[in-house]
Amino acid sequence: PTTPLPEILAPAFAERYGVPAINVFNELSMAAVLEGAVEVRSPLIVQTSVKTVKQMGARTLFAIWESLTRDIEIPVALHLDHCPDRDVITECLETGWTSVLFDAHELPVEENQRQTIEVVAQARKHGAAVEGEIEAITGVEDGLGTDAPSERQTLDVQLRYLEATGVDVFAPALGNAHGAYKEAPVLDFERVSAIVEAHPVPIALHGGSGLSDEQFKEMIARGTAKVNISTALKHAFMKSGLEYLKECEASDKWEPVKLFDVQARAMRELAMDMANTFGSAGRA
Ligand code: 13P
Ligand code: ZN
Ligand code: NA
Repeated sequence: PTTPLPEILAPAFAERYGVPAINVFNELSMAAVLEGAVEVRSPLIVQTSVKTVKQMGARTLFAIWESLTRDIEIPVALHLDHCPDRDVITECLETGWTSVLFDAHELPVEENQRQTIEVVAQARKHGAAVEGEIEAITGVEDGLGTDAPSERQTLDVQLRYLEATGVDVFAPALGNAHGAYKEAPVLDFERVSAIVEAHPVPIALHGGSGLSDEQFKEMIARGTAKVNISTALKHAFMKSGLEYLKECEASDKWEPVKLFDVQARAMRELAMDMANTFGSAGRA
């Protein structure tokens, strides 16, 4: 069974641990991160990009999710990551996703706020939750986004948005970026504290791949209860696969299932590492 996102994030926010929110891209990666979370008894948010939804199809992806989580005994949720497209939001909510990131940061903030109110009302009808975003998080993720530094809104604008929309999670720009960091990231920890003190809402830390354990811990201590990881899982999948394929070439033995085992193990270990680092291990 799945658990509503607010029920997963409320204890994490209150007790200051971070729930790994990992972007999966196929059945193997979904199964591997779920197995890792079960092994260390961590809650887990499984995320899908719009690109993955389009590539696999919402119904196929959801059927896999249902079969993998039917008997699971840890709190898990299925979340649609950065989605500016209202039609894809509707499709995922109707199919069974438990939460969505309505990412309309490219719209003027007033219009973003107006539409987010609509998306929240729509999600509530499905018993689903909404993450909101009004500032660009730099870097490119599955074809979306840019490397340009983001324009930041004032705290007043952020609070107005949070109060008007009632989003369940908020994703501000924090000096974080999607993908591998080109320069060492300088994070704005104070920004999290300022928002959370004025309006207690779980914060999402995007761009998790490439941050240090110290940066994760400081962010989580201030209220980033949802920690997004994508690039690191892709690397685990691709690099473990590459290593193994080199062995196949050397021995001229080609066994696909062994390749999948190697890749699954690498992804499982990443999920366990993240849960240990974020303090979510042992919470489920
Ligand atoms: P990374 O690819 O940097 O881990 O970012 C993940 C993310 O923010 C997904 O929304
Ligand atoms: Zn992101
Ligand atoms: Na990153």
